[in-house]
Amino acid sequence: MYGAMDGAIRGNMFRQVQERWLEWQKLFLSIIPFPEISAARAMPMAIDAVPNPEIHNGLAVQMIDEVRHSTIQMNLKKLYMNNYIDPAGFDITEKAFANNYAGTIGRQFGEGFITGDAITAANIYLTVVAETAFTNTLFVAMPDEAAANGDYLLPTVFHSVQSDESRHISNGYSILLMALADERNRPLLERDLRYAWWNNHCVVDAAIGTFIEYGTKDRRKDRESYAEMWRRWIYDDYYRSYLLPLEKYGLTIPHDLVEEAWNRITNKHYVHEVARFFATGWPVNYWRIDAMTDKDFEWFEEKYPGWYNKFGKWWENYNRLAYPGRNKPIAFEDVD
Ligand SMILES: [Fe+2]
Ligand SMILES: [Fe+2]
Repeated sequence: MYGAMDGAIRGNMFRQVQERWLEWQKLFLSIIPFPEISAARAMPMAIDAVPNPEIHNGLAVQMIDEVRHSTIQMNLKKLYMNNYIDPAGFDITEKAFANNYAGTIGRQFGEGFITGDAITAANIYLTVVAETAFTNTLFVAMPDEAAANGDYLLPTVFHSVQSDESRHISNGYSILLMALADERNRPLLERDLRYAWWNNHCVVDAAIGTFIEYGTKDRRKDRESYAEMWRRWIYDDYYRSYLLPLEKYGLTIPHDLVEEAWNRITNKHYVHEVARFFATGWPVNYWRIDAMTDKDFEWFEEKYPGWYNKFGKWWENYNRLAYPGRNKPIAFEDVD
């Protein structure tokens, strides 16, 4: 970690990173340490609920991991604050997280890990759904996009976080199977799974979808869209290869909610609605949202047919309102 940070400074990363990308990190890095520390706090809840010493060990180590995740992310944003050309926003991320409307969304996600029944919150919501499914877009797909925008420090930090997840996933899976051994738990687990799936989809896809689609300068046509990443990481890898086999054990999977999430991401433009929502908040945001250019419009139209008709005019108006008095080009300059 420290080696990577040194490398970023010596390699002049902060002169080469895309502003469009790093601005969104002010929001993301204000939110994410809290879900991490909530994950740490969820572990004692799970330990209390599960009568198995081997799993206690796994959960105790997970607790230590999650403290580490929160700490290295706090450290990362401090480095950004110290070195990025516009530190405003990074300096108040914890305060802004508490006071700003956008922080509320992230807080609600992290509070889901520690609110209510231990199996519902710490195992199904956090481990079986958030960590097993959605950390793939959070900590694998997003670092990919960071690197494409000249930020090679964030991937080092977040891949180190993601490397812990395989054990966390095993903890969650074993507790799920343990609970399934008692038939009376089945309807409760099915209820939990519906709640956890839908809530994770609403929050994570809103945030990470927006960072990846609107925080990037990489408009290569062969670059995967968030929808394409979601299809691979969540629909195929999680839903089809992890959730579906659970039906062998008599657990009914929320197929309808998985399909509806996919439908929202592709046909209902969920991520684009959310990006527009955040951009509408620009006067009270603590990060800057870049203007969209013709190159962006073209990419969106290619990846999400019908996008321009629905959102194009709106972004043209946004460009004029949020960046008044500027003629073209109004977007943050491309960094070579
Ligand atoms: Fe974590
Ligand atoms: Fe984790």
